Amino acid sequence: MAVRPGRDGPLIPTGAPPRHVALIMDGNGRWAKARGLPRALGHRAGVNALKRTVEGAADLGLEWMTVFGFSTENWRRPPSEVTELMRLLKLYVETDLGRLERDGVRVHVIGRRAGLAPDILEVIDRAERRTAHNSRFHLQVAFNYGGRADLADSARRLATAVAEGRLDPGLINEAMLGAGLSTAEGPEPDLIVRTSGEQRISNFLLWEAAYAEFVFQDVLWPDYGPEHLAAALHEFSMRERRYGASEVHDVLAAG
Ligand code: IPE
Ligand code: IPE
Ligand code: MG
Repeated sequence: MAVRPGRDGPLIPTGAPPRHVALIMDGNGRWAKARGLPRALGHRAGVNALKRTVEGAADLGLEWMTVFGFSTENWRRPPSEVTELMRLLKLYVETDLGRLERDGVRVHVIGRRAGLAPDILEVIDRAERRTAHNSRFHLQVAFNYGGRADLADSARRLATAVAEGRLDPGLINEAMLGAGLSTAEGPEPDLIVRTSGEQRISNFLLWEAAYAEFVFQDVLWPDYGPEHLAAALHEFSMRERRYGASEVHDVLAAG
């Protein structure tokens, strides 16, 4: 149950715990550079951080976690780095899919499939298919994902329906646009975390972030783990979410 913050005293935790946390896993390159290592080794260490964090997430009470693995803008990186990031998605699925499946994790992959190589499409398909029966925890991997691309794709579907005479444009509303996004199956993120100290959204979940809380953590992604996620959740618990209302209890009253 939510508690309003005390007027003069410290903030009392308000609101419900988060169901869905989205993570911008940033800082692999800087982690490697600080050690005099090639960027590829930073990305490899980043995969281990992802494994640790996913393992701890359900125990922290979360139901959904979305991680930003590769953005539509990451194609701007040198081809060797792009190849390495693709290879690591495959490695992650190949080494972790059995455990994810046994742990009750359902894997969803969001982002544009067009432009991905057949072997990458095959591992994405395998990860989704093999975990489709699970429901304890949802891991959503954003890969070749961009918030603008996703919005454009949803808009195009609505435009096609209009052109084919199946939809009256006057009826288009927020729910319809949201339903066409690749994230439509899950809840909106309550909290978006970015590591490495950068404070920007970099085209992640633009629509879905409308009322998300943001926490920026000064840790490079390869050093991340459940203890950092727990700290972000603690910070979230001190936030007062109002959704445009003037008082928290108005939000609760409105439901
Ligand atoms: C995040 O680390 C990983 C991906 C973008 C896939 P970076 O590679 O962006 O690391 P920095 O930001 O250069 O340190
Ligand atoms: C965002 O990080 C993308 C991922 C974490 C996959 P970037 O490192 O690519 O973002 P910018 O370039 O610093 O904004
Ligand atoms: Mg970066």
